[in-house]
Amino acid sequence: MPALLQTELADLHLHARGKVRDIYSAGEFLLMVATDRISAFDHVLASGIPGKGNVLTQLSLFWFDFLADTVPNHLITADVEQYPADIAAHADELRGRSMLVAKANMFPVECVVRGYLSGSGWKDYQATGKVCGIALPAGLSESDRLPEPIFTPATKSADGEHDVNISFEEMTARIGRQAAENLRRLSLEIYNKAADYALTRGLILADTKFEFGRTSKGVVLADEALTPDSSRYWPLDSYVPGGPQKSFDKQYVRDYLEEIRWNKRSPAPALPEDVVARTREKYFEAYRLLTGSPLHV
Ligand SMILES: Nc1ncnc2c1ncn2[C@@H]1O[C@H](COP(=O)(O)OP(=O)(O)OP(=O)(O)O)[C@@H](O)[C@H]1O
Ligand SMILES: [Mg+2]
Repeated sequence: MPALLQTELADLHLHARGKVRDIYSAGEFLLMVATDRISAFDHVLASGIPGKGNVLTQLSLFWFDFLADTVPNHLITADVEQYPADIAAHADELRGRSMLVAKANMFPVECVVRGYLSGSGWKDYQATGKVCGIALPAGLSESDRLPEPIFTPATKSADGEHDVNISFEEMTARIGRQAAENLRRLSLEIYNKAADYALTRGLILADTKFEFGRTSKGVVLADEALTPDSSRYWPLDSYVPGGPQKSFDKQYVRDYLEEIRWNKRSPAPALPEDVVARTREKYFEAYRLLTGSPLHV
């Protein structure tokens, strides 16, 4: 199975191409197609991971369903047979890796929840003793569990390439206090519910990022949800705080890119076949561990 790096759905209007998703206009809806593109260090690599788009889509669907009582979401349908006729004509390319969603007016804030100290949170803590302005106990180590999960919003940098952490006060200045408090409450509630469940499946949900938007139905959870691309999952049985944990999915990719000493500038390199194969296995393993059944594509 070759990787799907880009879709070219003739006769449909391309609304946007993200790092991973191709998004088409579909009347009042959007068609979100998860390709097999993979990014590392903020760059899309020249190789894709075959079936990765299916894993991301199916895991988001799993979580949307799991969280249905907690938060409404943007999903209209992922059943290609129910897509509008002009889109359904592309059913074979879209099946399993796409969703028809309500077009949302997105809040320009990434809603990050951290239950553990890692990544930019760990850097921030080392420098300031806080994460995004939230004071934490002294003496924490990298990957430690936090006394309680914290909400640490971020925005896209001006170049759109990477995220910049902001304080909750900055978030309220951008979207208003009521909306900010609502998104914080929702994000923490979703994180807690998902993290509790993930633990029962042998995975620590260290942190995750949500995106919300406004539709005619009110505030909805949009974008992808709780996938390995938007979340840090760590295997519970190999968790040892006091240093970095192996990234569940992209570790082989990162290791390879460090090994070849890529300067992290364009053009991003391609990946050797074994790195692609092992990374692919990790994405599928994440799906199997979280849902309890293997994903067949
Ligand atoms: N219901 C929706 N309505 C409008 N825009 C949406 C909706 N759901 C998601 N989006 C937007 O669609 C895009 C998803 O594409 P993708 O994830 O590839 O992009 P990206 O965010 O640039 O990449 P990355 O996730 O690596 O930052 C994001 O810009 C997201 O904000
Ligand atoms: Mg995204």
